[in-house]
Amino acid sequence: MMQTHNLVRFLALSGLQLAAAVDANGADALAKCPGYKASNIKTTGHGLKADLHLAGPKCNAYGTDLDDLKLDVTVETSDRVHVKIYDAAEHVYQVPESVFPRPKPAKGCSTNAALKFDYTENPFSFRILRTETKEVLFDSSAAGLVMEDQYLRLRTHLPTDTNLYGLGEHSDSLRLKTTNYTRTLWNADMPSIPNNRNLYGSHPVYIEHRTSGSHGVFLLSSNGMDIFIDKDKNGQYLEYNILGGVFDFYFMAGPTPIDVTKQYAEIAGLPVTVPYSGLGFHHCRWGYQDAFAVAEAVYNYSKAGIPLETMWTDIDYMDARAIFSLDPQRFPLKVMRELVAHLHANKQKYVVMVDPAVAAKNYGPYNNGVKDDIFILNSTKQTFHGVVWPGLTAYPDWFADGVQQYWNKEFAEFFSPESGLDIDFLWIDMNEPANFCDFPCLDPVAAAKEYPPPAPAVRHPPRDLPGWPCDFQPPGTSCKRVLSEQRLSPPADLDDEAKEFVMVSSRDNEAESSHTSKKWKGLPNRELISPPYKIHNFWGPLPHKSINTSLVHHNGLTLFDTHNLYGTMMSAASRQAMLARRPSKRPLVITRSTFAGAGSHVSHWLGDNDSDWPHYRWSISGMLQFASIFQVSMVGSDVCGFNGNTTEELCARWSSLGAFQPFYRNHNAEGMIDQEFYVWKSVTEAARRAIDIRYRLLDYFYTAMMRQSQDGTPAMNPMFYIYSNDKNTFGLDLQFFWGPSLLVAPVTEQGSTSVDIYLPDDIFYDFYTHEQIRGEGKNITKRDQGLADIPLFFRGGVIVPLRIKSAMTTTDLREQDFELVIPVGKDGTAKGALYLDDGDSLKPDATSNIEFEYKKGQLAVNGSFGYKTKAKIAKVTLLGVSSSQSGEAGSSGSITVDKPLTQPFTVQV
Ligand code: NOJ
Repeated sequence: MMQTHNLVRFLALSGLQLAAAVDANGADALAKCPGYKASNIKTTGHGLKADLHLAGPKCNAYGTDLDDLKLDVTVETSDRVHVKIYDAAEHVYQVPESVFPRPKPAKGCSTNAALKFDYTENPFSFRILRTETKEVLFDSSAAGLVMEDQYLRLRTHLPTDTNLYGLGEHSDSLRLKTTNYTRTLWNADMPSIPNNRNLYGSHPVYIEHRTSGSHGVFLLSSNGMDIFIDKDKNGQYLEYNILGGVFDFYFMAGPTPIDVTKQYAEIAGLPVTVPYSGLGFHHCRWGYQDAFAVAEAVYNYSKAGIPLETMWTDIDYMDARAIFSLDPQRFPLKVMRELVAHLHANKQKYVVMVDPAVAAKNYGPYNNGVKDDIFILNSTKQTFHGVVWPGLTAYPDWFADGVQQYWNKEFAEFFSPESGLDIDFLWIDMNEPANFCDFPCLDPVAAAKEYPPPAPAVRHPPRDLPGWPCDFQPPGTSCKRVLSEQRLSPPADLDDEAKEFVMVSSRDNEAESSHTSKKWKGLPNRELISPPYKIHNFWGPLPHKSINTSLVHHNGLTLFDTHNLYGTMMSAASRQAMLARRPSKRPLVITRSTFAGAGSHVSHWLGDNDSDWPHYRWSISGMLQFASIFQVSMVGSDVCGFNGNTTEELCARWSSLGAFQPFYRNHNAEGMIDQEFYVWKSVTEAARRAIDIRYRLLDYFYTAMMRQSQDGTPAMNPMFYIYSNDKNTFGLDLQFFWGPSLLVAPVTEQGSTSVDIYLPDDIFYDFYTHEQIRGEGKNITKRDQGLADIPLFFRGGVIVPLRIKSAMTTTDLREQDFELVIPVGKDGTAKGALYLDDGDSLKPDATSNIEFEYKKGQLAVNGSFGYKTKAKIAKVTLLGVSSSQSGEAGSSGSITVDKPLTQPFTVQV
């Protein structure tokens, strides 16, 4: 293992050194690049069009300069300007419309546009300004425009040390460094998700936040790129260095960070709705020996009184690690069907992993793929082979005609509720796509010999499995238990506290309408493996740890251009396949690799972190970048950590922090010590407590998640989203808002029992004691935070609906009545919302959108009440109002009420 890592590091280093050498030559040539001259400039109803012609002799820094370009500027909405610079012939690759449908411009917006486009003809450069203040937000005159067949450069001036966020996927600070900082976007299987590296996903969008306002810049490009953020004698800059494609920019006006996020959702798509039950607690691990080990974990969670909503199984279930197959001895179909039936009978869910790579052997999924011609082919039109878990593998070509039908069919068969594995949600992985056959991978058959590794032993002698039906027991055990003994209620010995896109498969755009058309297909004769400009891919050569970038898709595009789309295309196809099984149910698909817009198909986990304190801390910025910038609302890290052995203290703290991620899953790598929450007493206690709080707040959070899916308002908020005028919040990424009200501020240091928490100038209330705390724009210190404690605060002004009691499953939770907590704000008022529906219909028949408003001692409940629920409002708790403070009536305390959620009402509080 160690040796492999060293080799990997060596390869990566040599890749970087090579990059530096080539960069130096190219950099000399770059200095001579002539830039472009604009001509034939015409204003249109909504913008401007111009021709750009190379303004001097070609510099050919990292390829061949393109002579003739076109500029298209469109004011698409009052808050968005689209600036596109592309080759006049339109042969250069552009992201296919089928993968990233372009937003439609609104009508009649150019008159009140918040952004203005301005330009210089020769050498051509452009600026984006705020119309009202003339403040320059983007200024490409910082360096000459370079557009070659294999390299693009564009640099913008920025204010010194400005506040930049986004440009992921990364594990760095939420606010990006502004000196000597490089973000490389090239999707990669990246164990331990190190800082300052390209990771699994590519989201070329940033938010720049200034005290004068926020704006956003999205570059729709799937080509590999380096984005340099640095300063030189001319000041601060951000520079794109891209391996191809076009400049396809969308500028978003804000002016608040939340506005930018919502404007980005108009471009990249709203995040998918997630099932209510998906917000329950999930448990997974890689390395369960057999179905009985999985069942045992389920039972142990139940015994420990820790609500487990969804059990997951990693690649262990597969026969020799081939997707769409079951290990006949360790995970036989009969047992697996019983396992799933048992979970379902107990209102729990089940998930398994599916990788894209199909084992290249004589079995249905491979034979069907070859027959249907849906695999990526090599240059001799034979199936291309790489190496993943099962050994030699083929990769579905998501651009192939018929690939969706193939995927649907394999899903329908293998995941058949009647005769297969009746999964509820789906996990997809290794879709960067990953390949273990190291570049240049001359002999995949030889490389495949190490795979699959030997399967764990079949359990012998068998032993009793507590809590499961007799016929579920391995043959030969002395079966003593009966179904009725299983329970999902907490054991009696617990204390009281503890009890409490559908992918558009039709090729509907011009670029794909004909396999012979050259439009947007990519220029010919490019160096597709080792282009002259080397991005800072941690693995060195582009195809290393992935598949050859010179491969050509069935529709003529090259992997060189589409590499970063592979995971998102698999995501869209997998969501579609899940919908084909159950057309009316909301799918929950968790993917590793993503591209901009992925959130409109799927959800994401943050990949293979390490079980250590830095990764525990980085999980917050990782989560926030996806949830609040990239519009992938459902996201979370592997709780307790994946690689390496966790510790009791870390796992306890993470079980609490993880409860305030949208996606809450404990996951562990093969060979590591067990880390189920029940393994340690302190972790059991911390998890029970955190899940109890999460579940009581689940409808409040579900309301926020559904709102994000409706209009892009982020459910998760970095501090500066809410306090965007308070400079002290701009760099904070160890505390955040879960939903619009709840401030989460975990202990972040090993061995510590205290945490400094920044409270802006506002009113907060301790979640546990209801004590009012006046934020004064400085830190407070929370001390004596035991392993089961996590500091939480209500933000004044936001009414929070909570279930009065938690439950062992989200199904039972939905039966519980509500309490409304009214933490009044500085002006003595508060507002809030509650969204209700059945929790899992794709298009629910009935919904309630309930609005709460408190003022002058009166709570008014209005809105729509279409969803019928027996749960009522049973309690109202007012926090912190005093007449001297606000001049309002009312005083702190709880009142009991009995108000059904079926019609408007008011109560005196
Ligand atoms: C890599 C994934 O990131 C990890 O979560 C999973 O356990 C392993 N693949 C095995 O499937």
